[in-house]
Amino acid sequence: MSAFKHHDMLPTPDHDEQARQDFVASLRGHLSGRLMPGAYQIYERRVAPALRAELGREPDETEVRRAMTREPYYQFWSAMQRRSQEMLWESVIDPTERELPALIDRAKSRAKPAVKAPGAPKALKTSKEPRAARGRRRGSLRLDPSLPLPRYHAAVDIHLQPGAYHTDSTADDVAAGVIYDKGLDLYMGGALGAENGLMGETLVAYVKERHPALRPRRVLDMGCAIGNSTVVWARAFPEAEVHGIDVGAPVLRYAHARAEGFGAPVHFSQQNAEGTDFGSGSFDLVVSHIMLHETSKPALQRIFAECRRLLRPGGLMLHLEIPRGHTVFEQFMHNWESYNNNETFSRYMTHIDLAAEAVKGGFARSEVRVDEFAMQMSVAQMNYAENFIWKILAAER
Ligand SMILES: C[S@@+](CC[C@H](N)C(=O)[O-])C[C@H]1O[C@@H](n2cnc3c(N)ncnc32)[C@H](O)[C@@H]1O
Repeated sequence: MSAFKHHDMLPTPDHDEQARQDFVASLRGHLSGRLMPGAYQIYERRVAPALRAELGREPDETEVRRAMTREPYYQFWSAMQRRSQEMLWESVIDPTERELPALIDRAKSRAKPAVKAPGAPKALKTSKEPRAARGRRRGSLRLDPSLPLPRYHAAVDIHLQPGAYHTDSTADDVAAGVIYDKGLDLYMGGALGAENGLMGETLVAYVKERHPALRPRRVLDMGCAIGNSTVVWARAFPEAEVHGIDVGAPVLRYAHARAEGFGAPVHFSQQNAEGTDFGSGSFDLVVSHIMLHETSKPALQRIFAECRRLLRPGGLMLHLEIPRGHTVFEQFMHNWESYNNNETFSRYMTHIDLAAEAVKGGFARSEVRVDEFAMQMSVAQMNYAENFIWKILAAER
């Protein structure tokens, strides 16, 4: 069962919608837990020996792909996996569409424009604020309708989410954020926890373990989407001014409304991580969570260069990414997402040397490291989350 917690920026599914979401969650659990291991067995027992005999060496990923995509068992699993992804969005879109006008109104009632860009907005009191919110620090929202969308987002709907992170289907739309929040929970089988916060929690744990003295005054989360990781930073460092940027407007409107509902002060703005309007040296910590694999190789260098510009001397850049497998077969299975789930750039991340890309972005070799990191989990977390091992690109300016 998922530990995911319902909140007031999500629609309440009716009986049938709930049943569909439960079905998708079970189907995906079955596909990954029961059927996917069979593909590993077929590879080890039949496909790999045949390839070795034919080639006289270990096969590469392309050769594994050619052989596996001819296997009926893999074809069946792959087709079902793809269909489960489509069903996942369908099961979340229906309740969202029904309640969208009310969700938009709620988001608008919480919206607080940024006082000034990109400095530190002061806490303002307005008559519309709920009593509990008065006097507490608040976040803000700054949108830029003229911001060009990078081609790596405009070209495909990443993970098949219709309209992806950026499409407005109506004025003041928040649907992309609503759909992504619940969709992410279903996609991960509940493993990200009550507020989809596991990735932020992991990176915070990394900072506390590797940089225990760090007390950042300003933190920037790039590619923040719905702010699920950003809110974790705002809570972990309550004295800090926390910013989240993304290219998608509807996810940011949703992120702002959600964070305000949670009482977490985050300043969201619609900006491209390749070039922002923040001042040079204005952050102690610049982070991202699973953003890099949704960009492109030229963008990576520009993003790292921008991170370096934004960091004060001694500041820290951290990007959390999904490891892409250690064996050729694991890499092939990871890249199912690239070929079948519109994670087009993530294929190139399999063999990319992130440290070298950071150096091209201006960091000195000695400033950069790539770690594999698993968070020490609490007993409560162990009830729902696997102990994922993440890849972390770290660079100190
Ligand atoms: C997989 S989502 C990650 C969401 C979130 N960081 C989390 O922890 O779950 C990747 C996000 O990065 C954003 N993104 C990708 N490229 C970007 C760029 N160049 N500038 C800003 N945001 C970007 C996308 O719009 C998307 O919302």
